[in-house]
Amino acid sequence: MERTLSIIKPDGVCKRLIGNVVQVFEDAGFRIAAMKMKRLSRGEAEGFYYVHKERPFFGELVDFMISGPVVIMVLEGENVIQRNRDLMGATDPREAAEGTIRARWADSKQNNIVHGSDAPESAAFEIGHFFSGIEIC
Ligand code: CMP
Repeated sequence: MERTLSIIKPDGVCKRLIGNVVQVFEDAGFRIAAMKMKRLSRGEAEGFYYVHKERPFFGELVDFMISGPVVIMVLEGENVIQRNRDLMGATDPREAAEGTIRARWADSKQNNIVHGSDAPESAAFEIGHFFSGIEIC
């Protein structure tokens, strides 16, 4: 059993896609082990994306992530990190496989509806960034 962190980004919430995205995860057999909706502070968003802090898009990415509420989830299942990434599709929606979340609903590399951890180490960091142990069911 593995866990990953998923975020429905401000564009996904604004487009009223929370239900659609959660349905994709539940249809895939993932268990939602924790879920919260919140508006990120600048510090929370900068800390979350610290691995990208030298990238030219970092400032705009942080501005985008604090532009509205997000839905943050811990997903649980076998091989859930890779399976979630397969369901999301490529970062750039123009390169995302047909039927994936980003191919269906994303507008751009930045406004790409969802985030998902890319490895066990990042999943552990990202889950710990947003959830304490007693918040995970
Ligand atoms: P995410 O999976 O949340 O991880 C890092 C995010 O940075 C990524 O999704 C995109 O939203 C964003 N990102 C990655 N590359 C670019 C880019 N070239 N321009 C703008 N945003 C990007």
